[in-house]
Amino acid sequence: MNMKEEKFKPNLIVEEMWSHLEKSIKDRNHDFHSAVFTNLDKEGLPSSRTIILRNISKKNKKIVFHSDYRSPKIEEIKKNNKCLLLFYSPVLKIQLRMKVQSTIDYCNEISNTAWDNTKLMSRKCYLTSVAPGEIISSASDNLPDNLKGKEPEKLQSEKGYKNFSVVTNQVQSIDWLFLSSNGNKRILFDYSNNNNSFNWINP
Ligand SMILES: Cc1cc2nc3c(=O)[nH]c(=O)nc-3n(C[C@H](O)[C@H](O)[C@H](O)COP(=O)(O)O)c2cc1C
Repeated sequence: MNMKEEKFKPNLIVEEMWSHLEKSIKDRNHDFHSAVFTNLDKEGLPSSRTIILRNISKKNKKIVFHSDYRSPKIEEIKKNNKCLLLFYSPVLKIQLRMKVQSTIDYCNEISNTAWDNTKLMSRKCYLTSVAPGEIISSASDNLPDNLKGKEPEKLQSEKGYKNFSVVTNQVQSIDWLFLSSNGNKRILFDYSNNNNSFNWINP
């Protein structure tokens, strides 16, 4: 992004930011295609991991990823839904730090629709015999032997649905930081409590 001074208008920044997030869903090479998601674990300590963006609603300020329902983070999010999403694009030179409130959809209409739209290769992740994070006796992905190096058939993939969940993140605020040799710029967008305000911040 070639950010010229006249482009540092909050409404243009917002437009461009959400349009990049939207593009990143389909474009695996976009830097915003993945993000770091942080929640508090059961001991109250921060726990971060990489996730892939699956859906975006610019209008409703929602960002969606998918996860194995057996992962410890699902129960943790149910207990404390205040979480973070962190993006950085070396190409755009933009960092996005989002405060979000996360909700889990499991075995309902929302997860059903998302599952229908999930490709066979992605469904494969949900076919493991043990839960993410469980201790196992030797290095293994715990996938059925007939799936080594290939995607499942549709029928076999359906077994993964019971492990599939949708994590929807309602964005509360976005701390946008743009790095430039001409001077870094930073702005905080506040969407909490039906707010739609911004403040420039010292980078
Ligand atoms: C490139 C990449 C993409 C990933 N995408 C997801 C994802 O969309 N959802 C997810 O739950 N885990 C994803 N993972 C795995 C998580 O980073 C993490 O290892 C896993 O969820 C288990 O940890 P947790 O249950 O403690 O979060 C991804 C990992 C990598 C490296």
